[in-house]
Amino acid sequence: MYSFWNPVKVIFPVAGFGTRFLPATKATPKEMLPVVDKPLIQYAVEEAAAAGATEMIFVTGRNKRAIEDYFDRAYELESELVLKNDTQLLEQLRSTVPAGAKFIFIRQGDPLGLGHAVLCAQPAVGDHPFAVMLADELLHTAAGEPNPTAQLIAAFRATGKSVIGVGHAEGKSIERYGCVDIAHTDANGVMTLQGMVEKPKLADAPSQFGAFGRYVFDAKLFAHLAKTAPGRGGEIQLTDAIAALIADPSAGAVAVNMQAQRYDCGTKIGFLEATVDFALRHPELGNVFAQFLRERATRLPRT
Ligand code: UTP
Repeated sequence: MYSFWNPVKVIFPVAGFGTRFLPATKATPKEMLPVVDKPLIQYAVEEAAAAGATEMIFVTGRNKRAIEDYFDRAYELESELVLKNDTQLLEQLRSTVPAGAKFIFIRQGDPLGLGHAVLCAQPAVGDHPFAVMLADELLHTAAGEPNPTAQLIAAFRATGKSVIGVGHAEGKSIERYGCVDIAHTDANGVMTLQGMVEKPKLADAPSQFGAFGRYVFDAKLFAHLAKTAPGRGGEIQLTDAIAALIADPSAGAVAVNMQAQRYDCGTKIGFLEATVDFALRHPELGNVFAQFLRERATRLPRT
C-alpha cells in the first residue's frame, strides 16, 4: 500500500519544559530521568528500533544537550573500558545506539507546543509516513509481544490511515489527554474516528479513550499542522491538527487500543510506579528488590 514506508522514521519531541517534574527537570531533560538503570529516552528508542525504525529524529530545545550527548559515542569512556578489558560494560555502553540507526537532531527554538515540535521535524521526514513517540509515556509489553509502536505500524499498513495509540482513561483522568471521538469499531478493534479534542471536561468527553503518546501519521498531517492556530494553553496542539486530519476527506484517522502496561512518567507517581515495576522485572535486581519490598511492606502504616 505504502511503498515509500522505508526507511521507518520516528519523531521524538523532547523540547518541553517538564514542569510537572520540577525541580528534577530544572537542568536535566525529563527524558533523561532513569527508570532503574536506563533513561526514559533509551526505552523509547529501543521500542522504536524493535518496531523497525531506522531514523530517529529528535526535536530538542534549550537544556536538552544531554540527550544528544547520550546518543553520541563516548570515546574516552570506551577507551578506559577497553584498557580495563571490561567487555560487558563496553557492550552495554555501545548498545545504547541501535545498530544501523541514523540519529537526527532538530532545534525547536521557541517551545510553541507539541504540534509545533512535530512540524519542526518535517524537513527530516519529507512525504514519508512517520511515527511520533512521547518518551515520558513508558509502555511495557511482555517479551515476544509486538510493542505499541509496532502495533500502530501494523494498523497503518492494514488501513492506510493515520493511527492514534489510545488507552482507557478512567473517569475524570480523561481530562488530562487528547480524547478520541469514535464513529465505529471494527471486528479487529480498530476504531474509525470522527473527531478528537484536547483535554475535555469529563462531561464533554466524547469517549474514555485518551492518546497515550504513540502515533503513526500520514505525511498529510504536516499540511494541517502548518494551518493549526494556537489552541488550548496558547500552544499549537497536535490534537487540533489530528482533528483536521480526521475531517479531511482525503485522509481520516483510526485509533488502536494499545496492548501494553502504561506508566505516565511525566508525573511523579507514574514515575515511581514504573521504577518499582521495572526494578521487580530486572534480571539482576528483581529478586533482591522484591525481598526488600516484602520487608518494607510489613512496616507500612495501615490505611
Ligand atoms: P507535555 O505536555 O508533557 O509538556 O508535552 P512538558 O513540557 O514535557 O511537561 P510538563 O507538562 O510541563 O510537565 C508532551 C510532549 O511534547 C513535547 C514534550 O517534550 C513532551 O514529550 N513538547 C511539548 C515539545 O517538544 N515542544 C513543546 O513546545 C511542547
